[in-house]
Amino acid sequence: MKHIPVLLQESVEILLSGQSKPSGCRVMVDATFGGGGHTRRLLELGGKQLDVVAIDRDPAAIARSASLKQEFAARFRLLSGNFADFDLVLDEAGVGTIDGLLLDIGLSSFQLEEGERGFSFQADGPLDMRMDPAVGRPAAAVVKESDCETLTRIFRDFGEEPYAAAIARKIVAVRTQKPLLTTRSLALLISEMVPDYKQSRRHPATRVFQALRIFVNDELGALEKVLQLGLERLNSGGRMVVIAYHSLEDRLVKSYFREAAKGCICPPRVPVCGCGRVSRVKILHRSGLRPQPDEIERNPRSRSACLRAIERL
Ligand SMILES: C[S@@+](CC[C@H](N)C(=O)[O-])C[C@H]1O[C@@H](n2cnc3c(N)ncnc32)[C@H](O)[C@@H]1O
Repeated sequence: MKHIPVLLQESVEILLSGQSKPSGCRVMVDATFGGGGHTRRLLELGGKQLDVVAIDRDPAAIARSASLKQEFAARFRLLSGNFADFDLVLDEAGVGTIDGLLLDIGLSSFQLEEGERGFSFQADGPLDMRMDPAVGRPAAAVVKESDCETLTRIFRDFGEEPYAAAIARKIVAVRTQKPLLTTRSLALLISEMVPDYKQSRRHPATRVFQALRIFVNDELGALEKVLQLGLERLNSGGRMVVIAYHSLEDRLVKSYFREAAKGCICPPRVPVCGCGRVSRVKILHRSGLRPQPDEIERNPRSRSACLRAIERL
């Protein structure tokens, strides 16, 4: 099992080209360590003048860090925590301001392929989906305990599922006789509602699984917090790179960056600025970067990725 880092060259190049400290040691944070692919490349190309502090909320990711620790010693540190608590996690580790931040959000191939984690409808396992299995409610509990309106809202808001209400009604109708405790039982229930799904490109459970995962891990809430806290911590000239894999996340990142880039909003006829608003960031690559066809061919999981980046002014 292996995770192939997405938009690796592009993201690392953008981060290392920041000019926060033309001389002296720089500190960058990889807040989504996963398999350590981006962290490794940053350490390799950044040289002795770069330290990387990585974060992950998944204990299985933390356990994968031994070889990097051995190879890069004090230049590399891995912290266990949720990036929603960015300040707390970094403060506790004594990290001050930073010169770069990478967020490669979503799941690693390790998480997706491990049936026991319950993220994938392709591998049977307990319907769990928690990135940190010690925190929060597993997806099976959400499916068992939520009323029909709540389930509809989860599937619609986080999965953009057109049959959200019908799927929620079906779940509520069957769950008393047949508890939905495994990924396969939920995927089967959904596919039975769409009998001719084999003709379509995507499995009909794709959106519902995405929605439950986002809800269980409060992924959009965490992203909103880290964007804000990360920007506060970036030194001037430092850069933030975010790689998102679906439109909900990408929209959030795009609008946060646009808002932060907005300068004075006084009407043009006002001779002197009264709003006091100044741009806090410069947007790099305005329409985002997407993987080239050869990357998608090598790594089909990269196909939906969109990279957005800013530089702190
Ligand atoms: C797509 S993977 C990152 C892969 C990594 N860039 C690499 O190349 O190996 C995303 C990782 O971020 C972690 N993650 C997602 N949300 C998180 C959060 N709120 N706090 C901390 N880690 C999170 C996941 O557990 C997962 O390991």
